[in-house]
Order: sequence, then C-alpha cells, then structure tokens
Amino acid sequence: MNELNILVAAAKTDFGQAATPADLENAKALFLGKSGRITEMMKGLSALSVEEKKSRGAAINQAKQAIESALNLRREALADTELQAQLQAEALDVTLPGRQRGAGGLHPVSLTLERIEAIFSSMGFEVAQGPEIETDWFNFTALNTPEDHPARSMHDTFYVEGGSATAPNLLRTHTSPMQVRHAVQHVKKHRAATGADTAGEGLFSGAMPEIRVIAPGRTYRVDSDATHSPMFHQCEGLWIGENVSFKDLKFVFTDFCRTFFESDDLVLRFRPSFFPFTEPSAEIDIQFQGGPLAGKWLEVAGSGQVHPNVVRNMGLDSEKYIGFAFGMGPDRLTMLRYGVNDLRLFFDGDIRFLSQFQ
Ligand code: DAH
Repeated sequence: MNELNILVAAAKTDFGQAATPADLENAKALFLGKSGRITEMMKGLSALSVEEKKSRGAAINQAKQAIESALNLRREALADTELQAQLQAEALDVTLPGRQRGAGGLHPVSLTLERIEAIFSSMGFEVAQGPEIETDWFNFTALNTPEDHPARSMHDTFYVEGGSATAPNLLRTHTSPMQVRHAVQHVKKHRAATGADTAGEGLFSGAMPEIRVIAPGRTYRVDSDATHSPMFHQCEGLWIGENVSFKDLKFVFTDFCRTFFESDDLVLRFRPSFFPFTEPSAEIDIQFQGGPLAGKWLEVAGSGQVHPNVVRNMGLDSEKYIGFAFGMGPDRLTMLRYGVNDLRLFFDGDIRFLSQFQ
C-alpha cells in the first residue's frame, strides 16, 4: 500500500471514530485543513519536475477526493444519528390520554348561599356582608345580650385581640350583628335623605323605606363534631317597617323553604323558643312530605319579632318601627338538600366528595 492509500485509510478510520459532528470537523482538519496532510503534500509539489507534478498531483487529488467523500459519508451518518435521537426524545405518544384542565366548580355550601340570595333577592331583599371579626357591642350587647347575660355562654366564643379589656373583639358567633350594623347605616342614609329628623341623635321616627336584608357569611364557635364545625355558615334575615308582623315572617320563610327545596307541600312549624334579641321568638322546623326524610321535623332556623331594645339600638323609634328577624344555617340546608350526613365533609376539601356537586 502506498503512502496515499495509507493516508486515505487513516482518514476513514479517524472519521469513523468521530462520535459527534464536532469531533468529525476536528478529524477533518488533520487531513484537509490548512496545515493538514493533503495540503502539505500539495505544497511539496512545487519541488517536482513538470512530469512528476502531473502524476503526483493527480494521485494526491484522487486521495483528496476519496477523503472528502469519506468525510461526507460520515457527516451524513452522524446527522442521521442525531436526527434519530431527536425524534426519539421528542416522540409523541398519541395513545396517551390528553391532559385535561380540571373544570372547577362551586362548593356545595356556596351553591346554597347563591340559591338563598337568589330567592330572597326575588322577594325584594338586599344582600349585605359584614365583618367576621366583630365587636362585643354588635355581637352581643346591641342584640339585647348584656355582659353576664346567660345567653352569652351558649356561644363558646373565640375572642381575639382588640376592643377593650371588658369587651374584647371576637370572631362573630352568629350573623345577627348584621341586623344592627345594617339598620344603623340604613337609618343614617334616610335621615340624611329626608332632612326631616336631622338631629341624628334621637331615635328616628320619620318615614323611610323598609329595611329588607339578608346577611350570609361565616360564623365561629368552639364546637366540633359530626354536626358542628368551629367555622360554619349562617344567613341572617331582617325585615323592619311600620307594619311588619309575624304573619309576614311566616309567609316569607314558608315561601323561601318551599322554593329552596322545590317542594310545594313542605310543612313549617314555628315552635316557641327564646332569643334575647327577639320577643316573641320561635324556632322554625320543616317537615318533608316525601323522600327519605318524610315526616321528620327538622330544625332550620331561629326567628322572632325584633325586640324593642334592638330596634332602638338600630336608631329607630320602637313605637313606630317593628319587624322580624331570622337566622338559618346554610350548612344544614345543604346537608338536607343533598342528603349529606356529616358536616365535616364540607370542610375537609376532599375533591372526590366536592366534585359530586358540579
Ligand atoms: N343568632 C341566633 C343563633 O345563632 C339565630 C337567630 C335566632 C337569629 C333568632 C335571629 C333570630 O335573627 O331572630 O343561634
């Protein structure tokens, strides 16, 4: 084998060993580069005679072409390997199930709250929101529940920082504070609007639009079992006017329950009870006539005629203004509507449970 054949064979071996395009270009430089072996040989031609130049030059050119074609072959092979690797890495398995965007949905209690709001709105009630951290005044005292009143101990309260030593702030134990909060604002607005009774101090006895409001929201008590949670929901209702009676309460609440449960034959019972902020007071029970709960009395709300002391705390003349209030438990209503028997399921955040309500 002559020198040129050896060179071509060496080039083929080197090219074959190049594992990447970069390695290959380095190997190429050894043979075809500026100071590569072929280039050096070409330079050597100048020392030869014309005859020798011809034959030697042709032989070198042949070797050069052989090296170039080996180089091109290897380039293609490496490019192909690279392409295959890329295709494999980016392979798309069209048999994989698509990645789905989970469809979100409302929590069952939120669905209930929306439903409550829609029904009462259709009856001309406003919807108001109040703070969850409440003062002692709105949560208790304004609701005719003075300090040391035994009714306070029924609410195992979460006291928080703020307020005074004798009247600390607290997480509201019910939505009832919204009765006075909302009414005070309402009265203020209409005092200003009428201009009649502008002193702003005495109790308001002028004319004003009725107060008709519901106040849904979160409430808190130290309580935890299958039917009690330290955080739960309530929805307050209040209707104050010059001539609002228990008859109206019965009508409104009956209508609400029948619409909520989509059951025209639902029966309501008003059972005498006690709340400091209403007199007389009643607990409201409902009875389904069909379905799994047929015939059972189920308590759904507290209610009553707003106590004159509370009416006065609203800034209203209790000789002129009268009305009713109720407080119900949307969590309980949700349990009844969907047949859920453990309240804690609502607050565990288990998607398998929650997704059933979508
Ligand atoms: N706030 C009472 C409770 O949490 C429920 C209640 C009873 C609300 C009677 C009322 C009412 O508005 O009139 O137990």
